[in-house]
Amino acid sequence: MIRKQQPTTKNKQQITQKSFWYIVALSRELTANTVLSRTVLGEWLVVFRGEEGEVVVLRDRCLHRNSRLSKGKVHRGQLECPYHGWRYDKLGHIVAVPAEGEQFQPLQSRCAKRYATIEQEGYIYVHLDTPNPEFLPFKMPFYGQSGWETVRVVNRFPNTVTNCAENFIDIPHTATVHPGIFRSPRKQRLEMTVTRKNGSVFVEYRKETNNLGWYSRFLNQRGSEIQHTDSFVMPNITSVEYNMGRHRRLFITSQSIPETDNSTLVYTDVTYNYGIWNKLARPLVYWTAQKIIQQDVVALGIQGEVIAKYGQSFSNTPADTIHVFVESIMQKIEQGEDPRELSEQVREVQFWV
Ligand code: FES
Ligand SMILES: [Fe+2]
Repeated sequence: MIRKQQPTTKNKQQITQKSFWYIVALSRELTANTVLSRTVLGEWLVVFRGEEGEVVVLRDRCLHRNSRLSKGKVHRGQLECPYHGWRYDKLGHIVAVPAEGEQFQPLQSRCAKRYATIEQEGYIYVHLDTPNPEFLPFKMPFYGQSGWETVRVVNRFPNTVTNCAENFIDIPHTATVHPGIFRSPRKQRLEMTVTRKNGSVFVEYRKETNNLGWYSRFLNQRGSEIQHTDSFVMPNITSVEYNMGRHRRLFITSQSIPETDNSTLVYTDVTYNYGIWNKLARPLVYWTAQKIIQQDVVALGIQGEVIAKYGQSFSNTPADTIHVFVESIMQKIEQGEDPRELSEQVREVQFWV
Protein backbone atom coordinates (compact mmCIF):
# COMPACT_ATOMS: atom_id res chain seq x y z
CA MET A 1 0.00 0.00 0.00
CA ILE A 2 1.45 3.38 -0.96
CA ARG A 3 -0.08 6.55 0.31
CA LYS A 4 1.15 9.76 -1.21
CA GLN A 5 0.85 13.28 0.01
CA GLN A 6 1.76 16.37 -1.94
CA PRO A 7 4.90 18.09 -0.67
CA THR A 8 4.31 21.47 0.91
CA THR A 9 6.48 24.47 0.19
CA LYS A 10 5.96 26.19 3.49
CA ASN A 11 9.21 25.02 5.09
CA LYS A 12 11.40 25.57 2.06
CA GLN A 13 14.87 26.28 3.32
CA GLN A 14 18.40 25.18 2.73
CA ILE A 15 19.33 22.14 4.79
CA THR A 16 22.83 20.71 4.85
CA GLN A 17 24.72 18.37 7.16
CA LYS A 18 25.81 21.49 9.03
CA SER A 19 22.23 22.39 9.92
CA PHE A 20 22.25 19.88 12.81
CA TRP A 21 23.81 19.41 16.24
CA TYR A 22 26.42 16.68 16.65
CA ILE A 23 27.81 15.05 19.77
CA VAL A 24 31.41 16.14 20.21
CA ALA A 25 32.13 14.54 23.60
CA LEU A 26 30.69 12.89 26.67
CA SER A 27 30.23 15.32 29.57
CA ARG A 28 32.15 13.01 31.86
CA GLU A 29 35.26 12.85 29.67
CA LEU A 30 35.56 16.64 29.58
CA THR A 31 36.78 17.38 33.10
CA ALA A 32 38.33 20.76 34.01
CA ASN A 33 41.79 21.04 32.40
CA THR A 34 41.07 18.34 29.84
CA VAL A 35 41.68 19.20 26.19
CA LEU A 36 39.99 17.05 23.58
CA SER A 37 40.72 16.87 19.89
CA ARG A 38 37.74 16.01 17.68
CA THR A 39 36.77 15.92 14.03
CA VAL A 40 33.20 16.59 12.92
CA LEU A 41 32.31 16.83 9.22
CA GLY A 42 36.02 17.14 8.46
CA GLU A 43 36.37 20.18 10.76
CA TRP A 44 39.17 19.94 13.35
CA LEU A 45 37.94 21.01 16.77
CA VAL A 46 39.46 21.57 20.18
CA VAL A 47 37.12 21.10 23.13
CA PHE A 48 37.74 22.29 26.71
CA ARG A 49 35.96 23.91 29.66
CA GLY A 50 36.13 27.60 30.57
CA GLU A 51 36.62 28.87 34.09
CA GLU A 52 33.01 28.31 35.12
CA GLY A 53 32.91 24.86 33.55
CA GLU A 54 31.18 26.01 30.37
CA VAL A 55 32.03 24.06 27.23
CA VAL A 56 34.22 25.77 24.64
CA VAL A 57 34.73 24.48 21.11
CA LEU A 58 37.20 26.29 18.85
CA ARG A 59 38.73 25.50 15.51
CA ASP A 60 41.82 23.45 16.27
CA ARG A 61 44.25 25.91 14.77
CA CYS A 62 46.31 28.57 16.51
CA LEU A 63 45.94 32.04 15.01
CA HIS A 64 49.66 32.70 15.47
CA ARG A 65 51.59 30.15 13.41
CA ASN A 66 48.93 27.50 13.10
CA SER A 67 49.88 24.88 15.62
CA ARG A 68 47.13 22.58 16.95
CA LEU A 69 45.48 23.98 20.04
CA SER A 70 44.33 20.50 21.05
CA LYS A 71 47.99 19.67 21.81
CA GLY A 72 48.02 22.49 24.36
CA LYS A 73 47.00 22.77 28.01
CA VAL A 74 44.20 24.46 29.93
CA HIS A 75 45.01 26.75 32.88
CA ARG A 76 42.03 28.11 34.80
CA GLY A 77 39.70 27.93 31.85
CA GLN A 78 42.20 29.34 29.33
CA LEU A 79 43.76 27.27 26.59
CA GLU A 80 47.47 27.67 25.92
CA CYS A 81 48.93 26.89 22.52
CA PRO A 82 51.78 24.35 22.75
CA TYR A 83 54.03 26.29 20.34
CA HIS A 84 54.59 29.87 21.62
CA GLY A 85 52.14 29.91 24.49
CA TRP A 86 49.41 32.23 23.22
CA ARG A 87 46.40 31.88 25.47
CA TYR A 88 42.74 31.74 24.44
CA ASP A 89 39.72 32.43 26.62
CA LYS A 90 36.25 30.86 26.38
CA LEU A 91 35.28 33.26 23.59
CA GLY A 92 38.38 32.40 21.55
CA HIS A 93 40.00 35.78 22.27
CA ILE A 94 43.75 35.98 22.79
CA VAL A 95 44.37 36.92 26.40
CA ALA A 96 48.15 36.47 26.55
CA VAL A 97 51.06 36.55 24.07
CA PRO A 98 54.29 35.79 25.97
CA ALA A 99 56.53 37.33 23.26
CA GLU A 100 54.75 40.68 23.62
CA GLY A 101 55.61 40.86 27.30
CA GLU A 102 54.26 43.97 29.05
CA GLN A 103 53.22 45.45 25.73
CA PHE A 104 50.50 42.86 25.15
CA GLN A 105 47.15 44.42 24.26
CA PRO A 106 44.00 42.35 23.74
CA LEU A 107 42.65 42.87 20.22
CA GLN A 108 39.07 42.03 19.20
CA SER A 109 40.34 41.07 15.77
CA ARG A 110 42.49 38.28 17.21
CA CYS A 111 39.80 35.68 17.81
CA ALA A 112 39.72 31.97 17.03
CA LYS A 113 36.71 30.51 15.25
CA ARG A 114 34.26 29.43 17.93
CA TYR A 115 31.27 27.10 17.67
CA ALA A 116 27.94 26.95 19.49
CA THR A 117 27.59 24.19 22.08
CA ILE A 118 24.87 22.57 24.17
CA GLU A 119 25.41 20.21 27.09
CA GLN A 120 22.46 17.92 27.60
CA GLU A 121 21.83 14.44 29.02
CA GLY A 122 25.53 13.80 29.57
CA TYR A 123 26.44 14.69 26.00
CA ILE A 124 28.20 17.75 24.63
CA TYR A 125 26.89 18.90 21.27
CA VAL A 126 28.48 21.24 18.76
CA HIS A 127 26.94 23.17 15.89
CA LEU A 128 29.18 24.06 12.96
CA ASP A 129 26.87 26.72 11.52
CA THR A 130 24.20 29.09 12.78
CA PRO A 131 21.83 26.98 14.90
CA ASN A 132 18.30 26.63 13.56
CA PRO A 133 15.76 26.44 16.41
CA GLU A 134 13.80 23.86 14.40
CA PHE A 135 16.60 21.32 14.86
CA LEU A 136 17.58 20.69 18.44
CA PRO A 137 19.72 17.86 19.84
CA PHE A 138 17.78 14.61 19.91
CA LYS A 139 16.13 13.78 23.21
CA MET A 140 17.40 10.37 24.31
CA PRO A 141 14.42 8.16 25.31
CA PHE A 142 13.95 7.81 29.09
CA TYR A 143 17.51 8.98 29.81
CA GLY A 144 17.94 9.65 33.54
CA GLN A 145 14.32 8.81 34.35
CA SER A 146 13.50 6.80 37.42
CA GLY A 147 13.17 3.09 36.76
CA TRP A 148 15.49 3.31 33.75
CA GLU A 149 19.19 2.52 33.35
CA THR A 150 21.44 3.64 30.55
CA VAL A 151 24.58 1.91 29.33
CA ARG A 152 26.48 4.26 27.02
CA VAL A 153 29.15 3.09 24.57
CA VAL A 154 31.22 4.82 21.87
CA ASN A 155 32.59 3.08 18.80
CA ARG A 156 34.25 4.14 15.58
CA PHE A 157 33.03 2.70 12.27
CA PRO A 158 35.09 2.93 9.06
CA ASN A 159 32.05 3.79 6.95
CA THR A 160 29.55 6.57 6.27
CA VAL A 161 26.86 7.81 8.63
CA THR A 162 24.18 6.58 6.23
CA ASN A 163 25.54 3.04 6.07
CA CYS A 164 25.96 2.98 9.86
CA ALA A 165 22.43 4.24 10.52
CA GLU A 166 21.03 1.74 8.04
CA ASN A 167 22.87 -1.09 9.77
CA PHE A 168 21.40 -0.17 13.15
CA ILE A 169 17.86 -0.62 11.88
CA ASP A 170 18.44 -3.61 9.61
CA ILE A 171 16.96 -6.88 10.86
CA PRO A 172 18.04 -9.23 8.04
CA HIS A 173 21.77 -8.92 8.88
CA THR A 174 21.29 -9.81 12.51
CA ALA A 175 20.95 -13.55 11.89
CA THR A 176 24.17 -13.66 9.83
CA VAL A 177 26.37 -11.10 11.62
CA HIS A 178 25.18 -11.79 15.17
CA PRO A 179 24.07 -15.46 15.18
CA GLY A 180 23.11 -16.75 18.62
CA ILE A 181 23.79 -13.51 20.39
CA PHE A 182 21.07 -11.45 18.76
CA ARG A 183 19.09 -13.62 16.35
CA SER A 184 19.51 -16.97 14.65
CA PRO A 185 18.38 -17.90 11.14
CA ARG A 186 14.94 -19.48 11.48
CA LYS A 187 13.17 -18.65 8.24
CA GLN A 188 10.55 -16.84 10.26
CA ARG A 189 8.22 -14.57 8.33
CA LEU A 190 7.99 -11.05 9.72
CA GLU A 191 5.95 -8.11 8.58
CA MET A 192 6.77 -4.46 8.78
CA THR A 193 5.08 -1.18 8.02
CA VAL A 194 7.64 1.38 6.89
CA THR A 195 6.66 5.04 6.89
CA ARG A 196 8.70 7.95 5.57
CA LYS A 197 7.44 11.22 6.91
CA ASN A 198 8.87 14.60 7.83
CA GLY A 199 12.56 13.67 7.49
CA SER A 200 12.10 10.46 9.47
CA VAL A 201 11.53 6.79 8.80
CA PHE A 202 9.38 4.83 11.21
CA VAL A 203 9.13 1.04 11.17
CA GLU A 204 6.66 -1.12 13.01
CA TYR A 205 7.30 -4.87 13.05
CA ARG A 206 4.76 -7.63 13.50
CA LYS A 207 4.92 -11.40 14.08
CA GLU A 208 8.23 -11.17 15.93
CA THR A 209 8.34 -13.63 18.83
CA ASN A 210 11.27 -15.17 20.64
CA ASN A 211 14.18 -14.98 18.21
CA LEU A 212 16.34 -12.55 20.17
CA GLY A 213 19.34 -14.70 21.10
CA TRP A 214 20.02 -15.26 24.79
CA TYR A 215 17.93 -12.23 25.57
CA SER A 216 14.75 -14.19 24.75
CA ARG A 217 14.99 -16.39 27.81
CA PHE A 218 15.09 -13.39 30.12
CA LEU A 219 13.10 -10.81 28.27
CA ASN A 220 10.32 -12.78 26.73
CA GLN A 221 9.92 -16.05 28.59
CA ARG A 222 6.46 -16.78 27.26
CA GLY A 223 7.54 -16.19 23.67
CA SER A 224 4.63 -13.86 22.97
CA GLU A 225 4.69 -11.33 20.15
CA ILE A 226 7.23 -8.57 20.74
CA GLN A 227 6.37 -4.95 20.15
CA HIS A 228 9.29 -3.70 18.14
CA THR A 229 9.67 -0.37 16.38
CA ASP A 230 12.64 1.28 14.71
CA SER A 231 13.09 4.85 13.70
CA PHE A 232 15.52 7.01 11.80
CA VAL A 233 15.53 10.75 12.43
CA MET A 234 17.50 12.92 10.04
CA PRO A 235 20.38 13.16 9.64
CA ASN A 236 22.03 10.64 11.96
CA ILE A 237 19.80 9.19 14.69
CA THR A 238 18.42 5.69 14.95
CA SER A 239 16.31 4.37 17.77
CA VAL A 240 15.13 0.82 18.30
CA GLU A 241 12.51 -0.09 20.86
CA TYR A 242 11.65 -3.55 22.14
CA ASN A 243 8.67 -3.72 24.42
CA MET A 244 7.99 -7.11 25.97
CA GLY A 245 5.73 -5.92 28.75
CA ARG A 246 6.20 -4.16 32.07
CA HIS A 247 9.84 -4.16 33.21
CA ARG A 248 10.90 -5.64 29.93
CA ARG A 249 11.44 -2.56 27.79
CA LEU A 250 14.57 -1.56 25.98
CA PHE A 251 15.71 1.26 23.69
CA ILE A 252 18.89 1.27 21.63
CA THR A 253 19.51 4.79 20.37
CA SER A 254 22.54 5.73 18.31
CA GLN A 255 23.84 9.08 17.19
CA SER A 256 26.27 8.62 14.31
CA ILE A 257 28.72 11.48 14.07
CA PRO A 258 30.35 12.10 10.68
CA GLU A 259 34.07 12.60 11.34
CA THR A 260 35.18 12.33 7.74
CA ASP A 261 33.66 10.79 4.60
CA ASN A 262 34.40 7.28 5.79
CA SER A 263 34.79 7.52 9.52
CA THR A 264 31.82 7.70 11.85
CA LEU A 265 31.91 7.92 15.62
CA VAL A 266 28.82 6.28 17.05
CA TYR A 267 27.45 7.09 20.49
CA THR A 268 24.99 4.41 21.58
CA ASP A 269 22.67 4.46 24.56
CA VAL A 270 21.07 1.22 25.63
CA THR A 271 18.33 2.44 27.95
CA TYR A 272 16.27 -0.25 29.60
CA ASN A 273 13.70 -0.92 32.28
CA TYR A 274 14.09 -4.45 33.64
CA GLY A 275 12.55 -3.66 37.04
CA ILE A 276 14.46 -5.28 39.91
CA TRP A 277 17.09 -6.57 37.46
CA ASN A 278 18.15 -3.06 36.36
CA LYS A 279 21.46 -2.88 38.26
CA LEU A 280 22.36 -6.55 37.96
CA ALA A 281 21.81 -6.47 34.23
CA ARG A 282 24.27 -3.60 33.61
CA PRO A 283 27.43 -5.68 32.94
CA LEU A 284 25.52 -8.07 30.72
CA VAL A 285 23.88 -5.24 28.79
CA TYR A 286 27.30 -3.61 28.33
CA TRP A 287 28.97 -6.84 27.25
CA THR A 288 26.19 -7.70 24.79
CA ALA A 289 26.07 -4.19 23.32
CA GLN A 290 29.83 -4.09 22.77
CA LYS A 291 29.94 -7.62 21.37
CA ILE A 292 27.17 -6.86 18.86
CA ILE A 293 28.58 -3.46 17.92
CA GLN A 294 32.08 -4.87 17.35
CA GLN A 295 30.61 -7.44 14.96
CA ASP A 296 28.93 -4.56 13.12
CA VAL A 297 32.20 -2.57 13.04
CA VAL A 298 33.79 -5.52 11.20
CA ALA A 299 30.85 -5.91 8.79
CA LEU A 300 30.73 -2.19 8.02
CA GLY A 301 34.52 -2.06 7.63
CA ILE A 302 34.33 -4.72 4.92
CA GLN A 303 31.45 -2.92 3.21
CA GLY A 304 33.38 0.37 3.42
CA GLU A 305 36.43 -1.19 1.72
CA VAL A 306 34.38 -2.51 -1.16
CA ILE A 307 32.60 0.81 -1.64
CA ALA A 308 35.95 2.65 -1.58
CA LYS A 309 37.23 0.36 -4.36
CA TYR A 310 34.17 -0.08 -6.60
CA GLY A 311 31.78 2.68 -5.53
CA GLN A 312 28.38 2.30 -3.97
CA SER A 313 25.76 0.47 -6.00
CA PHE A 314 23.09 -1.49 -4.14
CA SER A 315 20.61 -4.13 -5.31
CA ASN A 316 17.59 -3.67 -3.12
CA THR A 317 14.85 -6.10 -2.14
CA PRO A 318 11.58 -5.20 -0.39
CA ALA A 319 13.37 -5.90 2.92
CA ASP A 320 15.62 -2.93 2.08
CA THR A 321 12.72 -0.46 1.98
CA ILE A 322 13.98 1.23 5.16
CA HIS A 323 17.37 1.83 3.53
CA VAL A 324 15.81 3.23 0.37
CA PHE A 325 13.83 5.73 2.47
CA VAL A 326 16.84 6.67 4.61
CA GLU A 327 18.92 7.22 1.47
CA SER A 328 16.22 9.42 -0.07
CA ILE A 329 16.36 11.64 3.03
CA MET A 330 20.16 11.78 3.06
CA GLN A 331 20.25 12.53 -0.64
CA LYS A 332 17.99 15.55 -0.11
CA ILE A 333 20.40 16.85 2.53
CA GLU A 334 23.35 16.31 0.18
CA GLN A 335 21.51 18.42 -2.37
CA GLY A 336 21.03 21.15 0.24
CA GLU A 337 17.27 20.61 0.30
CA ASP A 338 14.78 19.99 3.05
CA PRO A 339 13.91 16.25 3.37
CA ARG A 340 10.63 17.23 5.01
CA GLU A 341 9.48 18.17 1.52
CA LEU A 342 9.58 14.51 0.43
CA SER A 343 6.14 12.97 0.05
CA GLU A 344 4.83 10.83 2.88
CA GLN A 345 5.02 7.16 1.99
CA VAL A 346 3.84 4.02 3.73
CA ARG A 347 4.87 0.51 2.62
CA GLU A 348 3.76 -2.85 3.89
CA VAL A 349 6.60 -5.35 3.57
CA GLN A 350 7.11 -8.99 4.48
CA PHE A 351 10.50 -10.61 4.87
CA TRP A 352 12.13 -13.68 6.37
CA VAL A 353 14.82 -13.94 8.99
S1 FES B 1 51.60 28.79 16.92
FE1 FES B 1 50.36 29.00 18.61
S2 FES B 1 51.44 30.37 19.86
FE2 FES B 1 52.63 30.26 18.08
FE1 LIG C 1 24.15 -5.35 13.74
